[in-house]
Amino acid sequence: MDGPTRLTNSTSDDGRYRLLVEAITDYAIYMLDPTGIVTSWNPGAERFKGYAPHEIIGQHFSRFYTDEDRATGLPARALETARREGKFEHEGWRVRKDGTRFWAYVVIDPIRTPAGEIVGFAKITRDLTERRAAEEALRASQEQFRLLVQGVTDYAIYMLDKDGRVTNWNLGAERIKGYAPHEIIGQHFSKFYTEEDRAAGMPEHALATALEDGRFEKEGWRVRKDGTRFFAHVIIDAIRDNVGKLLGFAKITRDITERRDAQQKLDQAREALSQSQKMEAIGQLTGGIAHDFNNLLMAVLGSLELVRKRVPDDPKILQLIDNATQGAQRGAALTKRMLAFARRQELKREAVDIPTLVRDMTDLLQRSLGPTVTIETRFPLALPAVWADANQLEMALLNLAVNARDAMPEGGTIIVSAHEEGNDDAAAVGGFVRICVSDTGVGMDEATLQRATEPFFTTKEPGKGTGLGLSMVHGLAQQSGGRFVLKSRTGEGSTAELWLPVARPGAATDVSEEEFARTDMTAARSALKVLAVDDDPLVLTNTAAMLEYLGHTCLRAASGAQALEILRRSGGVDVVVTDQVMPRMTGLQLAEAIARDWPQLPVLIATGYAEMEPGAGAGLSRLSKPFTQGELAAKLAQMRVGPTGRVIRLRGNGRE
Ligand SMILES: Nc1ncnc2c1ncn2[C@@H]1O[C@H](COP(=O)(O)OP(=O)(O)OP(=O)(O)O)[C@@H](O)[C@H]1O
Ligand SMILES: [Mg+2]
Repeated sequence: MDGPTRLTNSTSDDGRYRLLVEAITDYAIYMLDPTGIVTSWNPGAERFKGYAPHEIIGQHFSRFYTDEDRATGLPARALETARREGKFEHEGWRVRKDGTRFWAYVVIDPIRTPAGEIVGFAKITRDLTERRAAEEALRASQEQFRLLVQGVTDYAIYMLDKDGRVTNWNLGAERIKGYAPHEIIGQHFSKFYTEEDRAAGMPEHALATALEDGRFEKEGWRVRKDGTRFFAHVIIDAIRDNVGKLLGFAKITRDITERRDAQQKLDQAREALSQSQKMEAIGQLTGGIAHDFNNLLMAVLGSLELVRKRVPDDPKILQLIDNATQGAQRGAALTKRMLAFARRQELKREAVDIPTLVRDMTDLLQRSLGPTVTIETRFPLALPAVWADANQLEMALLNLAVNARDAMPEGGTIIVSAHEEGNDDAAAVGGFVRICVSDTGVGMDEATLQRATEPFFTTKEPGKGTGLGLSMVHGLAQQSGGRFVLKSRTGEGSTAELWLPVARPGAATDVSEEEFARTDMTAARSALKVLAVDDDPLVLTNTAAMLEYLGHTCLRAASGAQALEILRRSGGVDVVVTDQVMPRMTGLQLAEAIARDWPQLPVLIATGYAEMEPGAGAGLSRLSKPFTQGELAAKLAQMRVGPTGRVIRLRGNGRE
């Protein structure tokens, strides 16, 4: 409806226009006279204003306006505008016959005679209520969305223009990155990247990826306003209009530093757990193998000892036997280390003064290590004694010192020091003494450090290292109720820390080897009737041979049940020597059964490793496997077993 409508005289045209207008129901099309009185009315007008033609023709059109609009004279102004400017166009509320309102789009055109005189107005109205409601709803939801985004504090949500400059900023962005909106809007987002990432072109790459794939997603370090870093999860989406034109980018950033830390801690804990499970499994295996080897070597060593005494004095044969003995002894030393790693060796613990122990072994150390290294000791004036097996501890320190020397091929200084450490565990009594062996050698890389205490792990040439040194130290620390810590970096030397519990004053001392040696052996000189019990025929034969060589009579039993039967049948047994680990009845169970029926009969239990719970079998005599004939004799002597079968217990060694 461009320009003023001209009246035409053609009746056929007139009829056609009328038909057209009458058919239109989506638009109200009607005419007003020059004063605003309605002069025609189409079905569209009737449909959405509610008046039938006879109700409205002849009425003033101002009745379609609201009271407010009428009060401000809008109807008159509308006609005036149409008259003056040739058109009045407006959106606003109009009123239906039933008083309800609708949102109308209105055009009023003046109708002129060919001479230009105004004869009335054409009025076209459209009901836009629905469209307006939809627009309102859209606006409201956009506003809600804006408020939502604005209010989110856990995510930085903001937009970038096509070039990557920040165009808006929410609370989360402010909280996470530290900039207030006015400080950052208009700035390039590469500001949030680290120097290195900027140099590597990461910001540009991110936008390019978002452009190409529609989205960029990544985790990485970002920088806050104050320069601190946080670990961020970032999503960048390219935003396009309906026709695909790029409007900018939406960016969502989350601070996942805490989550990352937690994840890392979890991974570490898992790693540590699997490492300890692995060590446990290796320990079981090693312990099992070592146990069997122990028995075998005991038989070999025992037999060699007996053979040596029986063969004629032929130096060639003796030489061979000595070689065999030495080989077996080295094997026994290895199984000892394996048992130590598996925490399955018999510990003879006592209060040990570290400075004294180290001083006493300095000679040995210096001889073992050679002239290229110097040993330096640093001990505080007052240091409590530790609760440990002195011999094993010496072995451990020797192992550590040898490792330190091997790490310093050009020579250097090994520092042995000790410090008293409190106990973090308030419930536990006493603290620890931390013994450190430090070197300035080649050090270890991360992977070596991780595996160093594993049995058989060595970086030394074949034949040079068994890889059991640190395993032994580690097992000893564990079994002693302490711990072993290894610290090292490639090229920066190593420090091995052995933490051992402080000895409580007045604690009982386990019988030490020297006491064996000091024990008067005369009591065992007289011939005894000994019952030897072992399920392993090889070991049994060997034990029996030793006993017989010592001049005793030996009865043999292959099980606990058999032993009890022999005791029942033949009287006069002076002492029972039994293995601990046997199927069906253990040595300990056998000892209990014997204590019930023959309370006076002493029992000696041979244990290859810590097969008994600490404290179990208290008061019983024990012998570590593999044992030599001398050790067996000393033990029998120490038990003071007499041919009468009575036991005279040792006094004053705190062992009862
Ligand atoms: N002080 C140290 N400096 C550098 N590396 C060390 C040190 N101590 C141990 N290691 C590394 O740990 C590995 C394992 O040590 P471990 O004492 O258990 O066995 P080993 O010394 O190789 O063999 P063995 O002790 O039987 O002679 C070594 O091969 C070495 O790589
Ligand atoms: Mg070693």
